[in-house]
Amino acid sequence: MERTEEFSRPAADEHGSDPSHGAAEHGKARAAFRAMDEGTAADWQIIGGEYRAFAKGLPDRVLAHLKLLDGDFGGFPVCRLEHSLQTATRAHRDGRNEEYVVMALLHDIGDTLGSYNHPEVAAAILKPFVSEEVHWICQNHGAFQGYYYFHFLGMDRDVREQFRNHPHFEACRLFCEKYDQAAFDPDYDSEPLEFFEPMVRRVMARPRVSLYAAAMEDA
Ligand SMILES: [Fe+2]
Ligand SMILES: [Fe+2]
Repeated sequence: MERTEEFSRPAADEHGSDPSHGAAEHGKARAAFRAMDEGTAADWQIIGGEYRAFAKGLPDRVLAHLKLLDGDFGGFPVCRLEHSLQTATRAHRDGRNEEYVVMALLHDIGDTLGSYNHPEVAAAILKPFVSEEVHWICQNHGAFQGYYYFHFLGMDRDVREQFRNHPHFEACRLFCEKYDQAAFDPDYDSEPLEFFEPMVRRVMARPRVSLYAAAMEDA
């Protein structure tokens, strides 16, 4: 599959800056302050309205970013998007609930920008929308997944043992055993991204835990 990008960016000059300062934004109201300590209620009414609209676009940005994993094999038998779809499909067919399936779909989304700590990127994106257990599974899946390959790279496959007495140890161990480590089969009939799209939208419809949750309440 070919890599697809759905991000649209304004034309940049030779210095990489946008000479139009965002032509699409032209004509929209903007706050008047030059430093936040000059801000007024009117300023923040403008920004708050923009924030609510922007935040509601999160599922679109997440789905677009997942597509960046398409065609990215990194030596594996399947590309990172197929691995993500297969992990989520296996979890769904095993009867896991929606937030778990969405976690399975997103668990490696941080590979692009979090090359040295990818589980934490996905966990941070999911944190406002999922249970503490599902968040913990995502955040720590790297250590548990290592059981299946760290010893081939001169690393300790038992690094997950540091969490042995944690209440979510078994849940994370099962995620890796049943879904993540098993999701590299090129012949598996994974559901397409479109199948999971409504789930992503429902799970991300409203944050449960966020410093900014109150700002979304009248949205
Ligand atoms: Fe991972
Ligand atoms: Fe994975």
